[in-house]
Order: sequence, then structure tokens, then C-alpha cells
Amino acid sequence: MPMSPIGIFDSGYGGLTILRQIKALLPQYDYLYLGDNARAPYGSRSFEVVYEFTLQAVRHLFDRGCHLVILGCNTASAKALRTIQQNDLPKIDSERRVLGIIRPTTEAIGGLTQSRHVGVVATPGTIRSKTYEMEIAKLHPDITVTGEACPMWVPLVENSEYDSPGADYFVEKRIGNLMRHDPEIDTIILGCTHYPLLINKILKFAPRGVRIVSQGEYVANSLKDYLERHPQMQQRLTQGSSTHFLTTEEVTTFCQNASIFLGDSSIEAERITLG
Ligand code: DGL
Repeated sequence: MPMSPIGIFDSGYGGLTILRQIKALLPQYDYLYLGDNARAPYGSRSFEVVYEFTLQAVRHLFDRGCHLVILGCNTASAKALRTIQQNDLPKIDSERRVLGIIRPTTEAIGGLTQSRHVGVVATPGTIRSKTYEMEIAKLHPDITVTGEACPMWVPLVENSEYDSPGADYFVEKRIGNLMRHDPEIDTIILGCTHYPLLINKILKFAPRGVRIVSQGEYVANSLKDYLERHPQMQQRLTQGSSTHFLTTEEVTTFCQNASIFLGDSSIEAERITLG
């Protein structure tokens, strides 16, 4: 039987935070991770460019045998998912699926906030798209959502500066802005998969008692649920417990960083080109 891993795509390293949680919950499957590190960050790019890059990545993962691809990237989920699902998938292969990561967190948020005031920190692209506001309004119309774009946070992570003293300035500034806009916020969604790597800084500057919500756990639970509800898809996935990595940048740096992020020193990656 040919390999049919679960594909996980991100602009760079952020999707590894999603992969890690999915693997912890569903270790039996094969995984193929693709980081478009050469073209990260996506957060300040236009709708058209994010869509084009994401579609290239999805096609590549399909060509490698994936029947199910998770966009482990909010920016791609906000800007490209719907078009790919509605326009491209029917033409490419209507049996394959591409899932995003925004919905699971927005579903869970109703049970997490007491004050009904929620903050979202994310890339400029995700904030501009207003996807979080729209999704939360559909499910929990009583919740007030305030977004704060954090254009420097992904570059800090991609350049291994997430624990440096220099990161303090950018994290304090954005968390400060958010809380000034709405001091009643009691829950902050990390609406970018890179941001869990900045958690120490975020906890340092978030007011005490404000809950910080990372997406990984909710995405993993939602995928488990999806596979239980879609046995035809579940049966197509191979279960060899392997993980392979693809990157559009040079592999040595990718492997070093990915090893740190995943806590696994045995990572090997293959360099690919998209486009
Ligand atoms: N991890 C991506 C996200 O969740 C980062 C986007 C970027 O490359 O700016 O939005």
C-alpha cells in the first residue's frame, strides 16, 4: 500500500507546534510536514500571494501521497482555505481534504472565557481578514473580540530570537496595546502557530489571571473527532508512526530549529522547491 501520511503545512516552523500536539494524541499515523521557510513569513503578504503559495504546498503534499492536509498556519487558513476547498479541490481530487486550524479554537473559546471579552494576537494578515471575529460571532455572539496584529513576532521565531531579551520589547508592546484596547479581556488566543514558542515572554507581559490559549490541543482533538466521523478518510491514512520533514530552505538550520521545537534530535529533512 503506498504511503498516505497526514500532511501538515506552515509557512515555516509554526506548524511544528500543531504537529507536536497532533502526534501526541494520534501517534499511530504517518506525517509529512512541509515548512515554506524560504518564503516565510506569510503574515504581511497579500491574499493572492498567500493563496498561491498555499495551493502550491497543498499540491506538493498531494503529489507525495497525502489524502488529508492540515493548514497548520492561521494566515493560510484565513486567506486560502475557503478558496482551495471550494474552487481547487473539486478540480484536483474531490476525495482529498484540506482542513484549517481556526475553527477548533473558536469552537472551544465559549467555554474558556468568563468575562466574554477575548483577545486575539496574530499576524497582520490574519487580523486584517477578521476571520476570528467572524467565526466567534457565528458561534458565540455574546463574545467581544479584539485583535492585535504582531508583525514582528513570526520573524523573532523564524530567526531563533524568541527567548532573547530583544523579544521583550515587541511582546510587551503588543500585549500592552491589546489590554489597553479592552481591559476586560480574560482570555487571549494565540492566533498564529508560531506564537507558542514565545510563551515565556507572553506570560511575562500578560496581566496575571489572563488565560493564554494555544491552538495545538484543540486542533488535535478536532482532528481525532474528524477521523472518527469520516472512516473513509481514516482508512486511507497509513499507520507507520513515521514523520518526514520537507523545507524550502536549507536543511541544516531547519533540522537544528525543528529539533529544538519538537524536542527530538533525530530530525532529517529534505529540501524541496515549490512553484
Ligand atoms: N504560523 C503562521 C500562522 O499561524 C505564521 C504566518 C507567517 O508566516 O507570518 O499564521
